Formats: sequence, C-alpha cells, structure tokens
Amino acid sequence: MKLKNNHKFVLAADGSGASGKTTGAKIISRKYGLKFLSSGLLYRFASHQLLKHKPKNKVKFLKSKFKKLNYNKLNNIGLHSSKISEYTSIIAKEKKIRDVLKKFQKDFASKHKKVCIEGRDIGTVILPKADLKFFFVCSLNIAAKRRYKELKKKNKKIIFKNVKKDLQNRNLRDVSRKNSPLLKSRDAVIVDTGKLRNITMMVNKMCKIMDRKILDKYGN
Ligand code: C5P
Repeated sequence: MKLKNNHKFVLAADGSGASGKTTGAKIISRKYGLKFLSSGLLYRFASHQLLKHKPKNKVKFLKSKFKKLNYNKLNNIGLHSSKISEYTSIIAKEKKIRDVLKKFQKDFASKHKKVCIEGRDIGTVILPKADLKFFFVCSLNIAAKRRYKELKKKNKKIIFKNVKKDLQNRNLRDVSRKNSPLLKSRDAVIVDTGKLRNITMMVNKMCKIMDRKILDKYGN
C-alpha cells in the first residue's frame, strides 16, 4: 500500500533500549514516506548540552537550545557514549525537562501530515491518537548483543558485560520513573524482535500491519 499526497498518517513506535525500534521505525518511515523523529536523540542532545555547559537553570537553557535546534544535525555529534546514555535516563525523569522536549515533538508532529516518532512515551503521551502504535520488545541478552555490536564499531575496548549492565540499569530507570515511563499503550501492536529472525521478517510484519491500517483508513 502507498500513502497518497493528501493522506495523513501518524505512527508511534516505543520500546526499551536496543529493542530494534529505531531500525524498524526508520525503515517503515522511508517505505511509506513518513517524516521520522527519534525522540531518544532529542533526550541525548539535551543530556549532552547539559553536561557540556552545566547551566544553572536547566529548563531555561534547554528551552532556548530547542528553539533553534536543527534536528538533522543530531546524528553527527556522537550522542551514544555510555556517559551520555546514563545521564540521559537520569534527566529524562524530570517533568519540566520532558515538557520542553514534548513541545518540540508535538510541533514536529503537527508540522507534518505523515509522521513517525520513536521513543518511550510516544503512544501513551506524545501521540495518543496515532493511527498505529508499535511496541518493540526483546530479551535483555539480545538487546545487549545488538548494542554491543553497534558500539564495538566505534570503540574496540568495549566490554559486553558492561554494555548489558548499563542497558539493564537504563531500562529499569525508564520503566520505573513517575513521569511518562516506558509503557505499552493498550492499543499498541507488539513487535517481538527476539522472535523475528532478521530485519526482513520484522519489516514484513510491520508492513502487513501498516497496509491493513491504511486500507482501513483510506480504502484502496
Ligand atoms: O531511544 P534511546 O535509547 O536513544 O533513548 C535514550 C534515553 O532517552 C532513554 O533511555 C530514556 O531515558 C530517554 N527517552 C525518554 N523518552 C523518550 C525517548 C527517550 O525518556 N520518548
């Protein structure tokens, strides 16, 4: 199925760290022409900036940073170190910080008719009325192997046991926080990337569900 120029479609993708959500959501966005936003990258950028500038008033500082943020530049500034990952999940607990990033995400979603946002609270808080919601799951061991492979490309000294522990701590912080925890929305479809043997199988499953939704919404 294809989305036409005049069609609107909102996709939410949530899941824990290294569950496969970014890969899945990016491929689907490209296939169906959805504007893609990784909210994790926004949180990582906020954390990077706070670590770098140590401002007195974090919220005021972030408000001004996010006002002039060019999202397309975030991929090239190395936001996946373990220090940034850890600090990100600490600042992500703070409601006032989440509110700044929420505004950025809401503005992004209302600017584009076809959009996909990926993160932890997209289906529950940011886009509760999304046309379709995916919730990605897999075991900690599989997620850790995935993240280890990614990080090893950039840093040869990385140790699997540490990657797994960091991921476990971060997931625990994300599911147990009071504000916007990682949570499956009741109407989200589960994508178990531990059971799907490869990316092609994951994409096929997602496309089938997307096609059904588009058909339901627009007919043929
Ligand atoms: O998705 P990614 O692993 O890049 O996210 C990094 C961190 O940002 C998460 O561990 C979480 O603490 C925070 N985050 C969040 N809400 C989102 C997206 C990310 O709290 N919607």
